[in-house]
Amino acid sequence: MQPLTISITTTCVIVLVVLVNSSLFNQSFAHNHKKVQYPSSSSLVLGLTHSRTFLPNVVSKLSSRSSSEYSSTLKPLEMLDMLEPLREVRDGYLISLKIGTPQQVIQVYMDTGSDLTWVPCGSLSFDCIDCDDYKNSKLMATFSPSYSSSSMRDLCTSSFCTDIHSSDNYYDPCTIAGCSLVTLLKGTCPRPCPSFSYTYGAGGVVVGTLTRDSLRVHGSDPSVSRDISSFCFGCVGSTYREPIGIAGFGKGPLSLPSQLGFLQKGFSHCFLSFKYANNPNISSPLVIGDLAISSKEHLQFTPMLKSLMYPNYYYIGLEAISVGNMSSAVVEVPSNLRDFDSQGNGGMLIDSGTTYTHLPQPFYSKFLSMLDSVITYPRSTEHERRTGFDLCYKIPCLNNINSHEDDINLPSVTFHFLNNVNLTLPKENYFYAMGAPSNSTLVKCLLFQSMEDGDYGPAGVFGSFQQQNVEVVYDLNKDRIGFQPMDCASAS
Ligand SMILES: *[C@@H]1O[C@H](CO)[C@@H](O)[C@H](O)[C@H]1NC(C)=O
Ligand SMILES: *[C@@H]1O[C@H](CO)[C@@H](O)[C@H](O)[C@H]1NC(C)=O
Ligand SMILES: *[C@@H]1O[C@H](CO)[C@@H](O)[C@H](O)[C@H]1NC(C)=O
Ligand SMILES: *[C@@H]1O[C@H](CO)[C@@H](O)[C@H](O)[C@H]1NC(C)=O
Repeated sequence: MQPLTISITTTCVIVLVVLVNSSLFNQSFAHNHKKVQYPSSSSLVLGLTHSRTFLPNVVSKLSSRSSSEYSSTLKPLEMLDMLEPLREVRDGYLISLKIGTPQQVIQVYMDTGSDLTWVPCGSLSFDCIDCDDYKNSKLMATFSPSYSSSSMRDLCTSSFCTDIHSSDNYYDPCTIAGCSLVTLLKGTCPRPCPSFSYTYGAGGVVVGTLTRDSLRVHGSDPSVSRDISSFCFGCVGSTYREPIGIAGFGKGPLSLPSQLGFLQKGFSHCFLSFKYANNPNISSPLVIGDLAISSKEHLQFTPMLKSLMYPNYYYIGLEAISVGNMSSAVVEVPSNLRDFDSQGNGGMLIDSGTTYTHLPQPFYSKFLSMLDSVITYPRSTEHERRTGFDLCYKIPCLNNINSHEDDINLPSVTFHFLNNVNLTLPKENYFYAMGAPSNSTLVKCLLFQSMEDGDYGPAGVFGSFQQQNVEVVYDLNKDRIGFQPMDCASAS
């Protein structure tokens, strides 16, 4: 998870060292992939809904330097007539997991920026620090292992245990668990995997234990489902600022697509527009497996780049951003948005767990200057100060939020990714109304954020807000990511 202003994100910045022999891993789990009744077991279509919740506290700025470092803080605001939160917001797209016997239904964020899947555990004892606004949220369903007859702690000898402890010594989790040297050498130590802590880039921390239980996932059609009898996930008893569970969609062995057996294929999603936030009646498809990547040749594909530092996450290379139709209005991006240094720093992470796209300084400021030079509306510095966004405009409208002229007069923004892939963003993916019209004026702010040009971690993050109404295909077979603007509600 990468961290943000006004949003928390879920990019995991801990490095999980994978010591697992992946073929062994596949063997030991292959028999668990049962399908229920479906003509093809090679794909799974889940429903994604959009959720938006507010966190207390101040706006934080993304820093790639350290998971706990926040700069630029704004005081929480008295809300005016604002549609857009001025406080920190946790946005994300949810899927449902059915865990245990009998099944308990838990909704979790889908996060391409981490591997671990975890759920809040222990109904009354689950403790979320700095999550006050969530306390009465019905999303805060927790999993109770004691009510599941199939729940068990993972063991220290499990490859997942080694993975989560990021150990460079295969024996460490068992040493921590207090195994004797004899059982340790024989690999027969029966002790449970020691508890873990998992830190996200935005500063969120979760502490829990690795648990195995049965998992069922299915979409709107309940006859299409997938079961795993011994799914490994985090049973999390306490968190800092992470009130809702997370399904990791990274490439590590712990991730949900990995454990479902779809990692060699891929997945695709089409994120609903934010106007459907918190509407449980509408969902868009999250496709996992063959169906996600077949018949997609009409999409534009950009290569997946590989960072040595975070090999389990998805990186793409940004070459330029252009503003409007003028070929002159191209902002050249620094090379660290498409290249890594020898340690694997740099690159642009594509992360469904980060809300707004983050661009490094001074490139971010150049991009804003370019936009401001072609936009003729008056700035609203008051909104800029209040929201923490850097570019807000007063746009005339006719008392009706749907009849403003901005669609014509705000410039288009196109991201140019490697391999000649041009993604022209839908306008609502970057200029967002900050409130209802007032005095025949609507204020819209640019929802991009700057990121310190640190030399550690990713140089930029392509977030979920900029992925609304775009089909995004993660083709893990060919190591490429495809884009195509579309109306995701119509695909629901
Ligand atoms: C969802 O559908 C139910 C039943 O049709 C309806 O009562 C409810 O208002 C809808 N919710 C939203 C947010 O549209
Ligand atoms: C951009 O080009 C399109 C089609 O060529 C045109 O309709 C539109 O008005 C142009 N927009 C700007 C801002 O020049
Ligand atoms: C993408 O944009 C660049 C720069 O405007 C242009 O040269 C290129 O032809 C475009 N590629 C496609 C496939 O349209
Ligand atoms: C609304 O517009 C009128 C006329 O332009 C102006 O006098 C008034 O101060 C404005 N009110 C607010 C609250 O901005």
